[in-house]
Amino acid sequence: MIRVSENIILKPILNSDTKTLFQLMKEIYPLAYSHFWEDKGAWYLNSQYSEKNILKELSQKNTDYYFVIYKNEIIGNFRIIWDAKLDGLSIKRQVKLHRLYLHQKIHGKGIGKQLVSWLEEKSKHKNYKAIWLDTMDTKLQAFEFYKNLGYQYQSHVFLNFELMHDEVRKMSQVYKKL
Ligand SMILES: CC(C)(COP(=O)(O)OP(=O)(O)OC[C@H]1O[C@@H](n2cnc3c(N)ncnc32)[C@H](O)[C@@H]1OP(=O)(O)O)[C@@H](O)C(=O)NCCC(=O)NCCS
Repeated sequence: MIRVSENIILKPILNSDTKTLFQLMKEIYPLAYSHFWEDKGAWYLNSQYSEKNILKELSQKNTDYYFVIYKNEIIGNFRIIWDAKLDGLSIKRQVKLHRLYLHQKIHGKGIGKQLVSWLEEKSKHKNYKAIWLDTMDTKLQAFEFYKNLGYQYQSHVFLNFELMHDEVRKMSQVYKKL
């Protein structure tokens, strides 16, 4: 357990937590992204949060995967990949913020900001020089959130998932020097 602030705790996700994580994301993901998908996000949710994929992600080296706990309740997930390099970004020692999904009911309370700033401090301590992440351009809540925290555009791709609506396929890679 890592205490980020008085009310926010990070609890490492274990192999025995796959069902809990799936149930959590079954609630969180569609609230945020169902409008991106023809099937409301069911296919994406089932692939990213299948038992097989969660166990694979938990077994990957140089990663941390946490439940976010706010006032004793699990309200999100948070995954970090240490030493993941962004193509075209020539900074040594980069960290990827892979997943940060918080439940809609606690958005806008500063929890996301505290988690990102916790990661920035922790990364600096570990002598990392940059953090980067993928963010969907049309999901302004997230796109503007990272922009306001000082994350800069590096590149973009168009996702080719079959069930994704065409107009939301653009995903940017943004980074911040530490
Ligand atoms: C994006 C997310 C992590 C932000 O966390 P949060 O705790 O809600 O955000 P905070 O309260 O810390 O910060 C709010 C900031 O977000 C930005 N923001 C939030 N909603 C916004 C919106 N609709 N339009 C523009 N900016 C917005 C603002 O910069 C705001 O800063 P301010 O409070 O100074 O105005 C969270 O909302 C979330 O998990 N969303 C759904 C899942 C998701 O999209 N995850 C990101 C995947 S890349």
